Amino acid sequence: MHKEPIVLMAMKMKPSFIGIILLLVGITGSDAFVPPAFYVFGDSLNDVGNNNYLPDPAPKSNFPHHGINFPGGIPTGRWSNGFIGIDYLAYYMGFRRSPPPYLSVTNEVKMSRGTNFASSGSGILDSTGQGTISLRRQVNYFQGVSGNLSRRFGRPIAYNLLSASIFYISSGNNDILEYFFALGPQNKTTNYQFIGTLLDNFKVLLTTLYNSGARKFGVLGTSTIGCIPIVRSSTPSGDCVEELNNLSQQFKNETRVMLQQLKSTMVGMKYSFVDSYEMTNLIKANSNRFGFRELLNACCGSGRFNGEAPCTPNATLCSDPDKYFSWDAYHPTQAISQLVSEMSFFGTMHVTPVNIRQLVNS
Ligand SMILES: *[C@@H]1O[C@H](CO)[C@@H](O)[C@H](O)[C@H]1NC(C)=O
Ligand SMILES: *[C@@H]1O[C@H](CO)[C@@H](O)[C@H](O)[C@H]1NC(C)=O
Ligand SMILES: *[C@@H]1O[C@H](CO)[C@@H](O)[C@H](O)[C@H]1NC(C)=O
Ligand SMILES: *[C@@H]1O[C@H](CO)[C@@H](O)[C@H](O)[C@H]1NC(C)=O
Ligand SMILES: *[C@@H]1O[C@H](CO)[C@@H](O)[C@H](O)[C@H]1NC(C)=O
Repeated sequence: MHKEPIVLMAMKMKPSFIGIILLLVGITGSDAFVPPAFYVFGDSLNDVGNNNYLPDPAPKSNFPHHGINFPGGIPTGRWSNGFIGIDYLAYYMGFRRSPPPYLSVTNEVKMSRGTNFASSGSGILDSTGQGTISLRRQVNYFQGVSGNLSRRFGRPIAYNLLSASIFYISSGNNDILEYFFALGPQNKTTNYQFIGTLLDNFKVLLTTLYNSGARKFGVLGTSTIGCIPIVRSSTPSGDCVEELNNLSQQFKNETRVMLQQLKSTMVGMKYSFVDSYEMTNLIKANSNRFGFRELLNACCGSGRFNGEAPCTPNATLCSDPDKYFSWDAYHPTQAISQLVSEMSFFGTMHVTPVNIRQLVNS
């Protein structure tokens, strides 16, 4: 099902809790400046349908019940009941639509406002996510896009456009999950080496983007993956796997430090680091205030925590996904994605050193 997304104007913008708070303190999203383009990279938290174009075993979600709350109820390849985070970010930046999946674009003009390279299941390491587009390949695809822009407009104009564009990346969660499930708990030294390798590879890829013209980076840090339903369902107690959370915490902490270092060495580089690990903890600790009632069970799936098996047409589906934290075994609901995007774009907590709105306007 290669359905073309998506006019974002069709989005029913439900004002959320944060939205109301922000209005009260007089911040609005109606900035005049819209970036020239929005380039998206990473894993299933950012994928809007690239995997639909890949053969097995690339993981797919282009079937019900995915997309039940998407305009028209269309399963697009997003792992969500509706929109995902970057759809909201694109909307807040003033784009009329979320950038199209790179593999869907046959005419280069269609990606003149950006494109989305993200591939579900992929990671920073090439060995992560069999059959997916690794972050390295996504970056290589972008090098092609950048080269073509330079050929069309000349390098100065192309680089001028790129330097004002936003590059948004979510990667690392799958690398950590695969490492942990392949090897089991490891000692500190081995963990430290793995996190170091992951970080070194990430740094090389960010530098490659910079060398191809990228200047403004948004980076979504790895999250509380030890608490997702599929991981909880694998433990006798049903508790979060602390070791996985620790690995994620270590990686996202070091990512933030690495970005700070890159900024001090690469002229004109700017970034916004979204600490989704801490945002998730904040949302869970205040779940009632945000209107979330179900933090443990997934909305769509089967088995323990409704999160042992994928969301398929015959899976058990909840009736009120807006009250759930998890959509399926791995992924958040549209409501959570919207809240995290609002906090990232407009907020001041757990987004450093500036929020994405400030990054856009900088
Ligand atoms: C770059 O342009 C060439 C020639 O028009 C085209 O074949 C190719 O697909 C383009 N590459 C990218 C990454 O857009
Ligand atoms: C940690 O584990 C690795 C591989 O499992 C092993 O080679 C190494 O000796 C261990 N190190 C310590 C300090 O226990
Ligand atoms: C996780 O990290 C905390 C704090 O750094 C530490 O006390 C705890 O032992 C770690 N747990 C595991 C399972 O590694
Ligand atoms: C990550 O950083 C936070 C503070 O920002 C700290 O509380 C936490 O212990 C750090 N965790 C690890 C594993 O480094
Ligand atoms: C749904 O169908 C698939 C394949 O037919 C099967 O493997 C799976 O167990 C079913 N799931 C449920 C929840 O019935």
